[in-house]
Amino acid sequence: MAENQIVLDTYDEIREALYHPDLSRSLDKRSFEEGNPRAGILSLLHGDEHKERRRFENPLFRREALVQYEQELFPKVLADVLTRTAVGHVDLLNLGGALSVVLAARRAGVDHDGSAEQLAELFDHVKVIAQAAAILDVVADRGRVQAETIQLLNEFDKNYVTPSRRRRERILDAVEAGETDEAALPDLLMRALWRLRAGDDMFVDHSLLVREVGLFLHGGSHTSAQTLCNVFFYLFGLDGSGPRTDWLRRVAEDPLDAQKCVHETLRLRPTTPEMKRLAERDVEAAGKRIPRGSRVALDARKANRDPNLFGEQPHEFDPDREIGDDMVLWGLSFGAGPHICIGRSVAGGFPLTATMLREGIAPGHLYGLVALMVQAIAARGVRPDPQSKPELDRRTTRGTRWLLFPVMFLDRDAQPVGERPMARSG
Ligand code: HEM
Repeated sequence: MAENQIVLDTYDEIREALYHPDLSRSLDKRSFEEGNPRAGILSLLHGDEHKERRRFENPLFRREALVQYEQELFPKVLADVLTRTAVGHVDLLNLGGALSVVLAARRAGVDHDGSAEQLAELFDHVKVIAQAAAILDVVADRGRVQAETIQLLNEFDKNYVTPSRRRRERILDAVEAGETDEAALPDLLMRALWRLRAGDDMFVDHSLLVREVGLFLHGGSHTSAQTLCNVFFYLFGLDGSGPRTDWLRRVAEDPLDAQKCVHETLRLRPTTPEMKRLAERDVEAAGKRIPRGSRVALDARKANRDPNLFGEQPHEFDPDREIGDDMVLWGLSFGAGPHICIGRSVAGGFPLTATMLREGIAPGHLYGLVALMVQAIAARGVRPDPQSKPELDRRTTRGTRWLLFPVMFLDRDAQPVGERPMARSG
């Protein structure tokens, strides 16, 4: 097939492409055995197969589960991990990774002992999977990145997935024998095993289950940790503006302000600045003829800076910006259409619309885990590390991923914001 690349970069064009039934995410059609570490996972499926898998996984993101995660589980994780690690010189990327991987593992069904070592190991696994997930933007040898990911998935299986699977099989045996009525944990692995016992073959291939669990672990933590760093990129004023001391104070005090900063950051620095699609047949979309086999690049970063949609200074970081009633502040950064991010409410909470900001948020509003991290971290007196600077991850062309994001915590315990010296740009 010919490999033309067509770029679409306006909001409406991109949305049209994301909803088009003949533009797929299946850019790599090789099997796992042929070297594709992502073969068969939700994000690469297309059409009815994708619909069926998504229908099976959507219940993991039901409102009650989201509320429980945000209001009960995550505050404990935040208190635990921050008390243990947020002191002195800290890498914000790894801190955000450790915080978000706990909940990602819980949703995926990956058991661990909660120690700092295991959380760091899991997030190290995530970093490898994240390279394979961004494979079309990887600048180095893509074959090597994919081979390393396959090796990593084998380790991940041996050390985490298989032991987690065995534990769940024992629970299901006991339930079937009537020895316990323990309801299944609402996690992906347990649901998949249940389904297998019911005679459905969706996850009959154990190695596919490992990849899907890996997708959930990675999807649920890497983008959140990177977005956390991107928020502090703006709050510390590393975009050249100088420290935004007022916003640092506001986010520490008010979760809604923290959420606005997260959404504005996502708009300006999407973790997937360019979504990719493949024309499965000759397609007419966005007023263009797209021949079968063409690649389509959807430039969300550009569309998210459209002055007609986001105001006259679309390149500025302005979480208080006014947007239209039918627009969301995060723009296209969670995608749209059938592949729209399944975890968007986990990470970003509920979208902030102009009406909501004008009329006040509804009771039961979710702020999202990234905003809660931002708030808790700002409240601990975080500032740029005077000894080392953040380092962008240049192994991909995305430009919104960090390798290192060193910060300093001066206070172990949260103090009133006004009594702390403010962060200075490093
Ligand atoms: C700030 C955080 C996050 C960002 C910016 C983000 C971004 C995205 C984007 C842009 C897509 C669509 C890509 C495309 O259509 O080409 C996507 C899909 C996806 N995301 Fe997220 N995501 C985030 C958090 C999460 C979380 C917390 C999970 C939880 C498991 C998750 C799991 C997924 C999955 C499984 C897909 C594939 C969905 C499908 O293909 O049907 N993401 N994400």
